[in-house]
Amino acid sequence: MKCDHVFCRKKFSSTVWYCAFIFCLPVAVLAQSSPIGKTIDPYAYIFPKDIVATHGCVVSAHPLASAVGTWVLQQGGNAVDAAIAVQFALAVVYPAAGNIGGGGFMVIHLANGRNTVIDYREEAPGLANPNMFLDSTGRPNPRLSLYGALSVGTPGTVAGLWEAWKAYGKLPWKMLVQPATDLAAHGFCISAQEAQSLNDARSDFLSYNTQPIAFVKATRWKAGDTLIQPELAQTLMRIRDKGKDGFYAGETANLIVQTMQKYHGLISAKDLARYRAIERQPIEFNYNGYRIVTVPPPSAGGVMLQQMLTMIHFYPIDQWGYASPLSTQLMIEAERRSYADRAQYLGDPDFVRIPISQLLDTNYLHRRISDFTPAHPTPSQDIQAGRFPYESEETTHLCVLDSAGNAVSATYTLNNLYGSKLVVEGAGFLLNDEMDDFSAKPGTANLYGLTGSTANAIAPYKRMLSSMTPTIVLQDQQPYLLTGTPGGATIITSVFQTLVDILDFHLSPHDAVNNPKFHHQWLPDVVYVEKGFPDSLTQALQQMGYQIEKREAIGRTELIIRKRKNYIIGVGDHRGDDAASGY
Ligand code: DON
Repeated sequence: MKCDHVFCRKKFSSTVWYCAFIFCLPVAVLAQSSPIGKTIDPYAYIFPKDIVATHGCVVSAHPLASAVGTWVLQQGGNAVDAAIAVQFALAVVYPAAGNIGGGGFMVIHLANGRNTVIDYREEAPGLANPNMFLDSTGRPNPRLSLYGALSVGTPGTVAGLWEAWKAYGKLPWKMLVQPATDLAAHGFCISAQEAQSLNDARSDFLSYNTQPIAFVKATRWKAGDTLIQPELAQTLMRIRDKGKDGFYAGETANLIVQTMQKYHGLISAKDLARYRAIERQPIEFNYNGYRIVTVPPPSAGGVMLQQMLTMIHFYPIDQWGYASPLSTQLMIEAERRSYADRAQYLGDPDFVRIPISQLLDTNYLHRRISDFTPAHPTPSQDIQAGRFPYESEETTHLCVLDSAGNAVSATYTLNNLYGSKLVVEGAGFLLNDEMDDFSAKPGTANLYGLTGSTANAIAPYKRMLSSMTPTIVLQDQQPYLLTGTPGGATIITSVFQTLVDILDFHLSPHDAVNNPKFHHQWLPDVVYVEKGFPDSLTQALQQMGYQIEKREAIGRTELIIRKRKNYIIGVGDHRGDDAASGY
């Protein structure tokens, strides 16, 4: 598919390059180690969804970011280098979710056989307290936890990328940040989806920022418009030149703290200085002869993925077949039971004791699913208490596989679309609203009628529970499949279904990504089905007694599969601007 705004190539004219040369000479010099404006034209790009590559492959939410990742691989960088450069690029070209003001998780498989996870989840500021989102009547106020300065957790992205690079990167750091710097300084043309999304957020941007910001202009955005982010470019230059300290100390840190003080947020210079990305042991388990490597708490994703896959595996689901009423019902019932456990037990492992071995015990999971009754739903009220909030698709996932066999599967986020909507004044980047992922009032229904548990209550420096589930599947100790998606609570069920679709039902990679998904999260006791979900299957589930609700897109799944050593398939989700790239 060709970008429909190639016409704006002319805007990236000699004038722009002249100005860049005169005013940004140092950038221009460094840009020699950047492909932007050379091999990558930010004004003429296409959206390749399904590709075959022979050496390395990158899939992400934006074609320019995927192209940056492939360029890094071609320069001799490894998958970790490429994943770092892609995340910096997404912070520019996909501002709804790509970020330096948020956080995430990176699952890494190294060619030497080692698996590891970098946790760069945001954490609560030191002055946070369990009641900070309750109003005078004691009820949670989601306006406060979702918008503006109070909703912001101390960002983790730059620390995470820095630690990953220090431990496992190969190319110079500057080379990984420079493409993003160029994209921010010189601009790129935006897609129809991005234009729509910026227009939708306009009134929120105006409500939560008193200074002009790059995301708001006098007229409505349209496909092909140029988005230039000069303040973000300056921030990226500081990160490029000073590494982690370019964000957590000095000018950027000052600008964050000043913005917090102006808008009554909590993040202090001390919070920024003490933030650390944490390297953690992945959750690993065998499934169908494959080795699944995925994310541990403070994401719920890995624990729940293992629970759900283990539960369905007590039944001959592969024989029941893809999208059959029975296999779909079994998966729904596994989802229901796992989400009930999540609400009760999961939180930041550095703050609460999580009974992981019990939750993952095969006998426990066997008992848990043993009351599965074909054609009869188990009412959620018969399982356990706890609920999860509805969330939309504004996180983002990326996968990178390099020619040496290193693999990275990373999901990072601002939480909601454009996070808190608050831009750091003078620094040009959006801050997350991740504080909403805590349970604002454990045990009590919030404004959406949803509850959480004390395991995920707010505490200073605690990390809020996540659903992000970046995952790598190994076959004979080699990367076979990389996947992940945004989608809040639906992330885990989407990854679960993608794996079952491929490992049990043998769907093509394209279909596993793009076919309609379904989601049950225990409470409310509803099966959400994505538009396009087969009517016959909906009717079969309704006849069994399931309550079905149709909803828009579920997730934006990215996938890489290596079929043989030199045969790599990359699939970007058709639901968004996602794109695969490779060589
Ligand atoms: O960490 C989490 O689970 C959420 N903050 C993710 C949010 C999300 O996926 C929103 N949109 N896709």
